[in-house]
Amino acid sequence: MTEQQLQHIPVMLGEAVEGLAVQAGGRYLDGTFGRGGHARAVLSRLGPDGRLLLMDRDPTAIAAAQAEFAADPRVLIRHANFSTLAEWDETSAGLDGVLLDLGVSSPQLDEAARGFSFMADAPLDMRMDTSQGESAAEFLARADEREIADVLWNYGEERHSRRIARAIVADRDATPFTRTGQLAALLERVVGRREPGKHPATRSFQALRIRVNGELDALQDGMNAALDRLKVGGRLAVISFHSLEDRAVKLFIRDHSGRVQNSRRGPPVLAAPARLAAVGKAQFPSDTEIAGNPRSRSAVLRVAEKL
Ligand SMILES: C[S@@+](CC[C@H](N)C(=O)[O-])C[C@H]1O[C@@H](n2cnc3c(N)ncnc32)[C@H](O)[C@@H]1O
Repeated sequence: MTEQQLQHIPVMLGEAVEGLAVQAGGRYLDGTFGRGGHARAVLSRLGPDGRLLLMDRDPTAIAAAQAEFAADPRVLIRHANFSTLAEWDETSAGLDGVLLDLGVSSPQLDEAARGFSFMADAPLDMRMDTSQGESAAEFLARADEREIADVLWNYGEERHSRRIARAIVADRDATPFTRTGQLAALLERVVGRREPGKHPATRSFQALRIRVNGELDALQDGMNAALDRLKVGGRLAVISFHSLEDRAVKLFIRDHSGRVQNSRRGPPVLAAPARLAAVGKAQFPSDTEIAGNPRSRSAVLRVAEKL
């Protein structure tokens, strides 16, 4: 596929940019550039003194950012995991807003060779950062049955996790799992087509992707780093795409909001001093957005302000 065919429709664009409350002279960081839908909208609100820091762990996203913005003096670009954003010198002066639009982009899903999709046969890779780390094939070749089952259960809520892990370990000596099609066929055989409208590989592919990319650890570290680097009044906006991520974002905001936590079993726990305040409630895409972009259907946007 050509770069032109590999486009990404930004999710909850207006709501996210509104949430960041962009000021013309502010310094913003988009930790998930993708193909720049959100970045472009932030940039259109910046004056000559504003700065936009762009990160992505996918080298192809960074190449797209460089092709489009290298000549713009307001834009700085870095190929890295957003979990390391505080290690970037450009963030040390403080940030007025951080956006994390989590998960994978449409180009990553649509480019079969990346191995994220069970709809096309391709090498079983699934790494967002193709320059480092273990692929899904390498993980499935090395992990023991218990670890595979735990990943499928914890990150995919796959009820058949143990049976699937057993089948993978039983089959892999004869034929290592190197192709998406091979894994999809095993999942179809073990799980069967029980959930109408849902491919039997959906949960396991999601779980492996989260594991291969360490997505939940990156989110936690990224939110902590953002909190450290945000200026007072700066905004954190996170768009998540499944309940594990949204739960982590919700708890992060709650745990830093200084509220006393009531526990049913013990006395109320005195929270640490407040560092964040939620801005409004969780927001969801409109029916119109979902109709125009079905990939937005599971999105949840949460915004918080640094105190
Ligand atoms: C949903 S897309 C972002 C789309 C983007 N907002 C746009 O409008 O084009 C997610 C992007 O974030 C990147 N990504 C996911 N987790 C990351 C992380 N921990 N650090 C850096 N980039 C990450 C992916 O490589 C992907 O390009």
